Amino acid sequence: MKGGRLESACWRPRATLGGAGHAAAVAALCAAALALGGCERAMRNMYQQPKVDTLAQSDFFPDGQSARPLSPGTVARSGGALAGTSSGRAGVLPLPVHAGTVTPVLAWAGTAAPSVPNPLPVTQALLARGRGRFDIYCAPCHSVVGDGDGMVARRGFPHPPSYHTERLRKAPDEHFFDVITRGYGAMYPYADRLAPDDRWAVVAYIRALQLSQHARLADVPPAQAKLLEQQKR
Ligand code: HEC
Repeated sequence: MKGGRLESACWRPRATLGGAGHAAAVAALCAAALALGGCERAMRNMYQQPKVDTLAQSDFFPDGQSARPLSPGTVARSGGALAGTSSGRAGVLPLPVHAGTVTPVLAWAGTAAPSVPNPLPVTQALLARGRGRFDIYCAPCHSVVGDGDGMVARRGFPHPPSYHTERLRKAPDEHFFDVITRGYGAMYPYADRLAPDDRWAVVAYIRALQLSQHARLADVPPAQAKLLEQQKR
């Protein structure tokens, strides 16, 4: 068969070097490989890279130390004997909160009075900041209006509850702060992406969203209320 012939032609051993010639060729190849290996070591020394050892002295920084001080605003994530372990979870520190103590989410049964209201004055600038952070970090799941129908949820992530329910309208500011800080059920925490001030800004914006879907005419300034009444007719 044609195919069979082709195959046998491919596999037929070619003319070979004589015994002595073969050994010489192998020796030359080995020498070349060794020499090139040495070159690579000299040209790109990846084996001994320049680095400073822990707490070594350094001429580079004016204070003579190689270790750098923490940047302002650094948030410690863990402490104690287990802080340096691979997960560090056992040494997790409570995250900084503005005022008072945080009531754990589980202790809030959905009826208690607000414990720590938003400590930041609610200004236009705070709401703008909150909206920006919300649209980046929360809207993908909660949607821009907070009804829980964000794009990520539509694509299969568990649907979050709507903020426009009686329960979450009545939930204290601190509950939202807690959920952002520690996560909640299927939702992971955002403490490493949102500094405490930004969390409160997001909380203020969620309150504005809730109001946007649940305002009474009496909440509207009289002049605007009149306009609305006229539009209704
Ligand atoms: C990746 C999707 C996702 C993102 C992003 C996300 N969440 Fe959630 N969120 C959820 C899910 C899912 C739940 C419901 C969790 C459960 O009940 O197990 C939830 C629940 C909540 C709740 C309701 C808690 C309760 O009492 O029922 C609040 C409040 C909340 N999220 C706030 C936020 C805020 C604020 C942000 C942005 C900083 C955010 N979430 C970002 C998915 C997300």
